[in-house]
Amino acid sequence: MLRIDIISVQPQMFRGFLEESIVARAVKKGACEVNIVDLREFGEGRWRKVDDKPYGGGPGMLMKCGPWFAAVESRLAGDAPDARPARVIMTTPAGRRFDQRVAEELAGEKHIVIMCGHYEGFDARIETLATDRLSVGDFVMTGGELAAAAMADATVRLLPGVLGGGPSATASESFGRNGTLEAPQYTHPPEFRGMRVPEVLLSGDHAKIEAWRNSESARLTRERRPDLVGGRDE
Ligand SMILES: C[S@@+](CC[C@H](N)C(=O)[O-])C[C@H]1O[C@@H](n2cnc3c(N)ncnc32)[C@H](O)[C@@H]1O
Repeated sequence: MLRIDIISVQPQMFRGFLEESIVARAVKKGACEVNIVDLREFGEGRWRKVDDKPYGGGPGMLMKCGPWFAAVESRLAGDAPDARPARVIMTTPAGRRFDQRVAEELAGEKHIVIMCGHYEGFDARIETLATDRLSVGDFVMTGGELAAAAMADATVRLLPGVLGGGPSATASESFGRNGTLEAPQYTHPPEFRGMRVPEVLLSGDHAKIEAWRNSESARLTRERRPDLVGGRDE
């Protein structure tokens, strides 16, 4: 079973995520365990301080080493010495881009720790705790919570038994087996405001439908994401 520990100064941000999302369903089904850890429990002094002014000046506050080392080490402490080492992910706009491949990689792990930064980010020495630095895109958010939620959601839905439809449910999606975008999909009614569902989808001919989906998937990928053309090199 996959265990995900998310460390944050805003643990309350995960309330809806843990109660309502696909992650809640996965936890209920026993496919994973998700723990939200309040960094302030590892804060320093009477005020449980987790941040301080940057050396050399500059705006804002930085997250301190002490609380982060204590928090991450506490999460790793229970892992068996012969177990595969946990993936410790630092959320940062300066990281490798999180994508479906990374989600697939993470879905194969046993233990993931996700570090949510805040304020102006982390003291650079905290990076030594991380096995991965991951970004969700070239923009700056206020904290790592939404990034952690996105990573956990994309990972957990790949775990066996979480989605109905088995492995094919995710293989045919965008960035799935072929690394291309998903073909357009339609549901009832067959015509809406003059827009008709392509005849082939109503034909009941599964081979033709499959061929149409493959060609539409290739066309959409060429049009919208030419950088993905060529598919996955596996
Ligand atoms: C205000 S940001 C710090 C940005 C940092 N000063 C910089 O310029 O790279 C605070 C925290 O939000 C999270 N964060 C912000 N944008 C992110 C992104 N695109 N991907 C992942 N995490 C992000 C990180 O945990 C980061 O430490």
